[in-house]
Amino acid sequence: MAPAAQGTVWLFSHWQGILPLMRNPLKAALLTLLVSMFAFALVAAQSPSAAAPEYTDDGQMKLPENYRQWVYLTTGFDMSYNPGQMSMDHHMFDNVFVNPEAYQSFLQNGMWPDKTMMVLEVRKAEGKGSINQKGNFQGTEVMGREVHVKDEARFPGKWAFFGFDDNKTAKMTPTSASCYSCHSEHGAVDTTFVQFYPTLLPLAKSKGTLSAAYQKESAAAAAQK
Ligand code: HEC
Repeated sequence: MAPAAQGTVWLFSHWQGILPLMRNPLKAALLTLLVSMFAFALVAAQSPSAAAPEYTDDGQMKLPENYRQWVYLTTGFDMSYNPGQMSMDHHMFDNVFVNPEAYQSFLQNGMWPDKTMMVLEVRKAEGKGSINQKGNFQGTEVMGREVHVKDEARFPGKWAFFGFDDNKTAKMTPTSASCYSCHSEHGAVDTTFVQFYPTLLPLAKSKGTLSAAYQKESAAAAAQK
């Protein structure tokens, strides 16, 4: 039996014995404490922090602040989409997280459910520090946060982007931005870059959910090798 249910049975089967206790103030206080702890545990057990996107009245998205407790998908290092781009004077990492409910659903069927939220967090790479002499590690400063959210009833294209920078709320990125075209033309599953999420790519392959455009693109790239 679940601990919460055991508690319920205990409370009810001991009800006759509890009433006399209530006459003693200390025991009554202890009992009140016990009952409220039990009630709290019950509430906590019933609501496993179901994540859903939240918006302000004027249509901005609120940053899902606990995203660092979500499922980690990948870290990109100095990724660039433009071969001719000059290298920056510093290195960058980007970390991608997805809300646990969406991740569970992806494990089942290789597709993102409604209310999926993915956060891309950008951090500057540090070189020397503490005992580190070579290579890079991530600095504590966050350089940017971008969210890709699937909210079918809200967005005509089902998905939308929000760039938060340092803010707790963000306006939706207009659909004319290159974010939408690059993601929809090159993202391996449903406008997301599953080809770069190492635990999800094999899964999407086995469930047959890779986009036709991505399959064509990767076949062409393989032929060039
Ligand atoms: C030229 C292509 C391209 C453009 C333009 C682009 N992205 Fe991406 N985006 C990527 C790639 C590649 C990744 C995978 C990153 C990784 O593997 O670390 C990604 C990942 C993401 C993710 C993680 C979730 C996902 O969909 O896979 C977010 C959020 C995101 N981008 C937001 C944005 C926003 C906001 C813009 C516009 C300001 C944008 N991107 C423009 C290529 C692009």
